[in-house]
Amino acid sequence: MLTKIDAQFSRSSQRPLRRQSQLVHGGTMRSGFNETSEAIFQTSGFVYVRAEDAEEAFAQDAQRYVYSRFRNPTISMFEQRMALYEESENAFATASGMAAVFAAVMAPLRAGDRIVASRALFGSCLYIVKDLVPRYGIETVLVDGTDLEQWKTALAQPTKLVFLETPSNPTLEVIDIRAVCELAHAAGARVVIDNVFATPVLQQPLKLGADVVVYSATKHIDGQGRCLGGVILCDNAFAEIVHPFLRHTGPVLSPFNAWILLKGLETMELRVRTQSANAERVASFLEGHAKIKRTLYPGLPSHPQHALSATQMSGGGSLVAFEVDGGKGEAFKVMNALEVILISNNLGDSKSLITHPSTTTHQRLTEAERVQVGINPGTIRLSVGLEDTDDLIEDLDQALLRL
Ligand SMILES: Cc1ncc(COP(=O)(O)O)c(C=O)c1O
Repeated sequence: MLTKIDAQFSRSSQRPLRRQSQLVHGGTMRSGFNETSEAIFQTSGFVYVRAEDAEEAFAQDAQRYVYSRFRNPTISMFEQRMALYEESENAFATASGMAAVFAAVMAPLRAGDRIVASRALFGSCLYIVKDLVPRYGIETVLVDGTDLEQWKTALAQPTKLVFLETPSNPTLEVIDIRAVCELAHAAGARVVIDNVFATPVLQQPLKLGADVVVYSATKHIDGQGRCLGGVILCDNAFAEIVHPFLRHTGPVLSPFNAWILLKGLETMELRVRTQSANAERVASFLEGHAKIKRTLYPGLPSHPQHALSATQMSGGGSLVAFEVDGGKGEAFKVMNALEVILISNNLGDSKSLITHPSTTTHQRLTEAERVQVGINPGTIRLSVGLEDTDDLIEDLDQALLRL
């Protein structure tokens, strides 16, 4: 038997819990064994005492667990915890971040619809909006997300969906969420925001007017490089559209990965706030370095949208982009000389990770597309982890000396 603890209230006082407390207690359901750590319901199905019980379970959809593609208790705990933290009516977990992006973009669209998206997107997200969706008779318009005039022009016509990422991967462009949501809503569009780089800790797009938020939970939500996952947060109206899409196409998270992500959430605020403070220090060091042409970090006053980022993010985040003097050869030389920072295309990890976007995450873009979003051969993306920043700075310093 599962006893649901109403996650909005602490057990003793019935006081509503604050956000950080929701990350620890939110959504918890205990089995009859009263375990401290959430149980892993690693099961595909559920049994019934009588055939009539199965019939009743299917008739009363969502009243009990019937099949783990539809719902599973461990996955429900993760979804509920995410929904409470984001203050969202619904959360739907998926097997990866891309499964979340694909479902959130595709589920509401029909042939003849029109979508507007920012151009500076993660490579696979760009593939979905630019290459995949148009195959089904949907028009996609790409804009420079930092230019409100371009949004205004593109949203002067009726539009079904707006998709954007802020800060963007990897060049950390910051988009005015409030302003774009206003324009989008006037055009009849729902706004879907990929909030991976900002994290749920530092930016809450639903509070700024967005309708749907998507995450790669693989990143800061797990934050320890253990599993893939994704999540969609939305209101009840969008849930009615996306829920049947997920249920019948099946990009479901595994119960074990849901448990890892539940554990990740418990420490997420601590990790993200420390990583953001660490990144700010590392970015300041990089900005002053003679071998670096340009450092991009939303928390630095030199960032083109620094003032805007301060109005919608509480911290600069854990990602820093910088351009070494030279091209691919120089970028590789620096990366290969690092001793503490690891070469990996993942991000949001407790370990600092570095990647060369034009040959990895954004390799499939054309040269012209990369230039358009500011990804040059010398651009390097650094995801700052939880190490002592003195070690990170010393490591970068000795590597940059090779140039
Ligand atoms: C901004 C952004 N969105 C979506 C994704 C996709 O997430 P996943 O790899 O979990 O599918 C990533 C992955 O790097 C990302 O950086």
